[in-house]
Amino acid sequence: MQAQYQPLTAYIEYPVDEMCTKAATFRAHMQRRRSVRSFADRPVPRSIIEDVILTAGTAPCGANQQPWHFCAISSPAMKQRIRSAAEVEEQTFYSGRAPTEWLHALAPLGTNASKPFLDIAPWLIVCFAESYQLKEDGTKGKNYYVTESVGIAVGMLISAIHSAGLATLTHTPSPMGFLSDICGRGDNERAFLLLPVGYPAADCQVPVITKKPLDQIATFFDD
Ligand SMILES: Cc1cc2nc3c(=O)[nH]c(=O)nc-3n(C[C@H](O)[C@H](O)[C@H](O)COP(=O)(O)O)c2cc1C
Repeated sequence: MQAQYQPLTAYIEYPVDEMCTKAATFRAHMQRRRSVRSFADRPVPRSIIEDVILTAGTAPCGANQQPWHFCAISSPAMKQRIRSAAEVEEQTFYSGRAPTEWLHALAPLGTNASKPFLDIAPWLIVCFAESYQLKEDGTKGKNYYVTESVGIAVGMLISAIHSAGLATLTHTPSPMGFLSDICGRGDNERAFLLLPVGYPAADCQVPVITKKPLDQIATFFDD
C-alpha cells in the first residue's frame, strides 16, 4: 500500500518562555496525581469517560495498530461481579500465592484483599491488550509492540482522568482472566489493567511515598 502524507496543521509552536511555563505547569499538575483506593459513590457523566478513553485512543502505537479495547462499566451488577471475582483472586494472592518479597514490597502501601472501591467507584474501565488480530475470515494477524503501546495508552488515560479532575487506581488483581469472561472479550485479548474512576472519598487517605529526584531517573549528555 502506498503511504499518503498531509501537512502537519495541528502542531502549535509556542515561544520558549511559554513552553517553559507550560512544561512546569504540567509537571506540577501531574505531581498532584495519586493512586486512590477510597472512592465516593457520586456519579460521573458518561461523556467524561468517553473523552478520557478517546484521549487514550490517540496514543502512539506499533504500526498504528491500536491494539487496545476499553470496557467502561457503570452497571452495579457488573461492578459487583468484578469485585467478588477480584477479591477471590486477591485473597489467594495475599494468603499464600504472593512471594514474601512481593508482600514486603507492598507493605508500605497497606493494601489487602478487600476491594470495596470496585463497586463503590461510579465507573470501572477495564483495559484489554489485543495480543493478535482476529480477522473476519477467522485468520490471525500479528500485532507489534502490544505491551508498549497499551502501556502508553493507559498512561495517557490515567493522565486524562487526572486532568478531568477525577481519581483512579491502576489495579491488577492477578490473574485477571475473570475480566475477559465478565466483559465477554475474545481469546485474542488479555486484560491489562482495571481502573476504578471517580471522586476520591471525602476522608480519602493515601500512603506517604516519595518519587525519585531528577538525577536518579535521568542522565543528561548536554555539554
Ligand atoms: C502496573 C501497575 C500495577 C498496579 N497494581 C496495583 C494493584 O493491584 N493494587 C493497588 O492497590 N495498587 C496498584 N498499583 C498502584 C501502585 O501501587 C502505585 O502507583 C504506586 O504505589 C505509586 O503511587 P501513586 O500512583 O500514588 O504515585 C499498580 C501500579 C501499576 C503501575
